[in-house]
Amino acid sequence: MVIVLAAILLVVLLTCVPYLVTIALAEGPTTADASPIFGVTVPEGYKQWELIAPAEEAAPLDELRAVVGNRTAIDAYQGGKLPFPDGTILVKRAWKRKQSPEFSSATIPGEPTTVQVMVKDSRKYAATGGWGFGRFVNGKPVDEAQHRTCFACHEARAKSRDYVFTRLAP
Ligand code: HEC
Repeated sequence: MVIVLAAILLVVLLTCVPYLVTIALAEGPTTADASPIFGVTVPEGYKQWELIAPAEEAAPLDELRAVVGNRTAIDAYQGGKLPFPDGTILVKRAWKRKQSPEFSSATIPGEPTTVQVMVKDSRKYAATGGWGFGRFVNGKPVDEAQHRTCFACHEARAKSRDYVFTRLAP
């Protein structure tokens, strides 16, 4: 009897484990992929999002940037809506500036450097103007100290625009 029960238990366990693993993997980004303080992750599919505006950063960073947004962000921009509604996500992509190999005066994106994210959730992030921040290098969040600088700079210079610098490119 004990052996039969043990055998049944074993079969049940062996059947369940793969499902449990699948469920665990389907949970998506783990906390290791989330930014400190805010718990922001790199949003899925952001490479397909619409462009809000490009930007260029002078030396020493020498970067090309593109700020893109999800549907909520684009709708808010097009409607001239401020503050941005909850659910807005803005992503700043950045690359090293590179000279075009085909045309010397043209600058093209080189190596990607960082992905920076702002997520609007006015309750969850009430202490930082309603925005959660995340900065990622190679898909991994940078340290907590860097995440402490985000809101301070955005607040000091872009407070009247709901802490967002980028305007919709004409
Ligand atoms: C010293 C100032 C400064 C700090 C610190 C800073 N930012 Fe920004 N951020 C800017 C500026 C200026 C822009 C406008 C685009 C550009 O010039 O790259 C910007 C743009 C952005 C954007 C696009 C939306 C917008 O406001 O235009 C995101 C997203 C962003 N920053 C995230 C972050 C995150 C995450 C951190 C912290 C890890 C951070 N920023 C720290 C100055 C700063």
